[in-house]
Amino acid sequence: MPLNPTILVVEDELDVREMLRDQLVELGYAVRMAASAEAALRDVEVAAPDLVLTDVHMKGISGVELCKRLKADPRFALTPIVILTAVTDLDARVAGLAAGADDFFGKPFELSELSTRVGALLRVKTLLDQLERAEGVIVTLGATIEARDLYTSGHCERLATYGVALGRALNVPEPLIRALHLGGYLHDLGKIAVPDTVLLKPGALTPSELAQIQRHPSIGADLVRGLHTLDDVRPIIRHHHERWDGSGYPDGLQGEGIPLGARIMAVVDVFDALHTARPYKAALSTADALGILREEADTGAWDARVVARFVEIVGDLGARNGGPRVPGAMGRGA
Ligand SMILES: [Fe+2]
Repeated sequence: MPLNPTILVVEDELDVREMLRDQLVELGYAVRMAASAEAALRDVEVAAPDLVLTDVHMKGISGVELCKRLKADPRFALTPIVILTAVTDLDARVAGLAAGADDFFGKPFELSELSTRVGALLRVKTLLDQLERAEGVIVTLGATIEARDLYTSGHCERLATYGVALGRALNVPEPLIRALHLGGYLHDLGKIAVPDTVLLKPGALTPSELAQIQRHPSIGADLVRGLHTLDDVRPIIRHHHERWDGSGYPDGLQGEGIPLGARIMAVVDVFDALHTARPYKAALSTADALGILREEADTGAWDARVVARFVEIVGDLGARNGGPRVPGAMGRGA
């Protein structure tokens, strides 16, 4: 958040618009103005404001509709929106709430109240911005791990895409969809603690090297402990190598005891490993990779319901074989 947060005032009446501007400038904010919702939608494309203050009843798009459109756009979903409306206009308040408005400011204006409300909303926005930056650092970290290994290029991004699509196909709640997106990038975060000599070793691993690799889920989960914004992602990181029959790691969880997000991530992780080339194997076709997933679900490795749903949707995902094409023996890494 800049030193002088920017407030976008959307109001079709010139005198009200200017009165609000003067007041907000006096309070130390930078102010941009739009005389209609259409103009506001163009304005936010140029630069994101820190807060939007909008009238309800305007010619063309209403303030409520403007609020709905901005909140539906991931770039502005966390931007506080205050709707200017009379305290008695209950219809507008109800519609505003449904559209995701963060607060209302009543006409007639109590300007001292404006300062308190805008200040409070901007403080929350600052905290959210900070959290988002922390999350961004962690996701970048996930990408750097992927960058160590040429053969897993694009793996995280594909897992995020497959995980979200499979989650939606299974009708999981929205917070889990977000967790699956981030989990795609972060599931192997713990590999940061595995040396290149082990992670990239072309030959067979010794038992102690295998143990080092198998610690990556618990190390990754420990790394994000305390970042509450990643609370829903941590179980995916810790349990993405558990198996339905209890033979996985690190905790040997079984069946529905394995968090659903981790069961979903396990299926798409295995699919992508089969479907892309690695130093020790060529990429399998989609049909062959799905065939193996189904067989392994039949013998108890994966959640059969999750695999069945993935088989149904994979055609829509445009899954293409990735990674360098290297002929070789078939196998599968961690
Ligand atoms: Fe992993």
